[in-house]
Amino acid sequence: MSRLIIVSNRVAPISEGGPAAGGLAVGVYDALKETGGMWFGWSGDVLSSGQPQIKVEERGPVTFATVALMRRDYDQYYRGFSNATLWPAFHYRADLLHYDRHDFGGYCRVNAWLAQQLVPLLREDDVIWVHDYHLIPFAQALRASGVKNRIGFFLHIPFPASQVLLAVPPHRELVEALCSFDLLGFQTGPDLRAFCDYIVNEAGGSIDASAQGPLTVNAFGRTLRASAYPIGVYPDEIAELAKAGERGKAVRTMKATLHSRKLIMSVDRLDYSKGLVERFRAFERLLEHTAALRNKVSFLQIAPPTRADLHAYQDIRLQLESESGRINGRFAELDWTPILYIHKQYERSVLAALFRTAHVGYVTPLRDGMNLVAKEYVSAQDPDDPGVLVLSRFAGAAQELDGALIVNPVDIDGMAEALAMALGMPLAERQARYRDMMVQLRENNVSVWRDNFMRDLQAVDGAKRARSGKAGAAGARGKAARESVTG
Ligand code: F6P
Repeated sequence: MSRLIIVSNRVAPISEGGPAAGGLAVGVYDALKETGGMWFGWSGDVLSSGQPQIKVEERGPVTFATVALMRRDYDQYYRGFSNATLWPAFHYRADLLHYDRHDFGGYCRVNAWLAQQLVPLLREDDVIWVHDYHLIPFAQALRASGVKNRIGFFLHIPFPASQVLLAVPPHRELVEALCSFDLLGFQTGPDLRAFCDYIVNEAGGSIDASAQGPLTVNAFGRTLRASAYPIGVYPDEIAELAKAGERGKAVRTMKATLHSRKLIMSVDRLDYSKGLVERFRAFERLLEHTAALRNKVSFLQIAPPTRADLHAYQDIRLQLESESGRINGRFAELDWTPILYIHKQYERSVLAALFRTAHVGYVTPLRDGMNLVAKEYVSAQDPDDPGVLVLSRFAGAAQELDGALIVNPVDIDGMAEALAMALGMPLAERQARYRDMMVQLRENNVSVWRDNFMRDLQAVDGAKRARSGKAGAAGARGKAARESVTG
């Protein structure tokens, strides 16, 4: 059987039950620990001098191969083009998009350099699965180094509508680079449709849906396949984790703080795409309109720090701190603080246990590729007395979880009404909604996600790949390997 090589920007320092990372890290690790294989990417370290060296570590069935970035590479590739250009654009925040062509140069240079670091570790029959927006040019770089292996790509974040993507100056280079992969995976049907729209209407390519399985994409002189593969979780493992934590310290402390009040709970990286300000205002609206709920419900928002060296993230933090202070100042009593806002990270096991305690999971991003918190919240519920999920229609998860109360995250009144409905929902309805969602989560768990993607990647027609790929010169490998990342 071929070895699976996962490539992602961040290779999370994951230990069982350890700190919760982004959805990518959790999903990928869950998928990889079953099959075994190698996970290659950035170590998270940034060097101001010296030369980054690859570190290879075996942990159970998974080999971790990680490498540090030089300061300039971090600034241009990660902080710059990935997170100041692509992230806002792909989350429909063209107003926050910052573009610098040197950053794009750095982004391409780091992709090429990372590809060169991986090449010596590869075997002929390895299957390479690249993840997320940091690594769009990665297959192009591997192909330039002569790599002929099957290479797939999965985008964890939304793929934007063409009119939004056009705001990113090198949009054409990016989509052309995507077409160097053999298989592209998107979180949802709407993401796949947005990609196809660009291919047909902007790139002059074509889409063929006549074959079984993924669509066939013809563009930029290549033929590749593309489909939607919604990422999942392991619902039964999360349920066990949540149950095990029920009598733990975190839940006891939370219950003591709540007395017998109801709990609304959210967990998000402190990111402007998560709709946190609107969410706080909708909770405020709920208290404003329903006096009977004052001192009867608390809202716990856990928002761990993320990308704190970017202005947009410093702004959202200030905004949120000011909103929570304002709302608490308006409604708090001596014995009740309506919003408990915590700016730190908790372990996955603690979060699962707290989810089980929460009457409402409040997940309202403005845009989100999938949002695994929504899936984890449902999984963690007590089947006899489950809570209710209030979910943004703009989270990928809303395509699957129709047992949730679906809201528009900018409609403050609509969200306040959904919260009131969730808090008052009868047990039988909560159970029916929970059961429906658990069927869906079990059917499409993280192994199914991985297996479907790998099945389609393995099935990519080898002859077609050889014909449509630009064959890499053997010499390119040596030359490329000599160029420094800082060059
Ligand atoms: O899911 C999107 C994503 O950017 C992942 O790629 C990443 O691991 C996670 O969010 C956390 O972001 P960062 O790696 O920038 O801390």
